[in-house]
Amino acid sequence: MSPKVSIRPIQTDEIDQLIKISKQCFHQTFDPWRALEDVNTYIQRAYTREKLLSELKTTTSKMFFAFVDNQIAGYLKVNWGSSQTENNWPEAFEIQRIYVLKQFQGLHVGSALMHKAISMAKEEHFHRVWLGVWEHNDKAQKFYHYFGFKIEDEHTFMMGDTAQRDLMMVKDI
Ligand SMILES: CC(C)(COP(=O)(O)OP(=O)(O)OC[C@H]1O[C@@H](n2cnc3c(N)ncnc32)[C@H](O)[C@@H]1OP(=O)(O)O)[C@@H](O)C(=O)NCCC(=O)NCCS
Repeated sequence: MSPKVSIRPIQTDEIDQLIKISKQCFHQTFDPWRALEDVNTYIQRAYTREKLLSELKTTTSKMFFAFVDNQIAGYLKVNWGSSQTENNWPEAFEIQRIYVLKQFQGLHVGSALMHKAISMAKEEHFHRVWLGVWEHNDKAQKFYHYFGFKIEDEHTFMMGDTAQRDLMMVKDI
């Protein structure tokens, strides 16, 4: 039986927990596949206290923690308007980050975060949700297909100083 998952917005005074889970999830996801130097460079640039705090305060982004038994199990970052990381679809809603810690994967925490993202997009009257995923991240791609996302385009994502091909997956809602 799946555990009870609860989701709520991340507060600015939870910045330390956000930094910790951001780094942990990124390492868990990419260390087995990518040069550690690139992973570390990405983390040093993207997950600074200043950057994450400013993202938490941005009015065109929202971040959520998922909890299992009062433990932080995963997190979600969604963007719209000028906060989107690409502007292929200016009127769309982006899922920029959806990550579940390894020990909580397969327990429907990711599903709960995905449902949160889609329901928020609907409440805010968006009709299109998109995300970027590394071309070789098969596990995440299967998860997105399961939720009805389809590959529609591609873009370049900088993993540290190395360019990688990301697929842009889209779901109309
Ligand atoms: C991808 C990720 C968010 C999925 O979260 P999760 O909590 O492990 O997934 P869930 O338990 O909610 O799975 C939901 C459903 O998706 C399907 N699914 C999940 N992983 C799957 C996989 N690897 N292959 C096929 N289907 C899968 C399952 O069918 C499952 O439903 P079911 O158990 O009712 O059949 C999570 O594994 C993760 O954080 N991965 C590493 C980080 C990452 O790659 N993030 C995306 C960066 S773009």
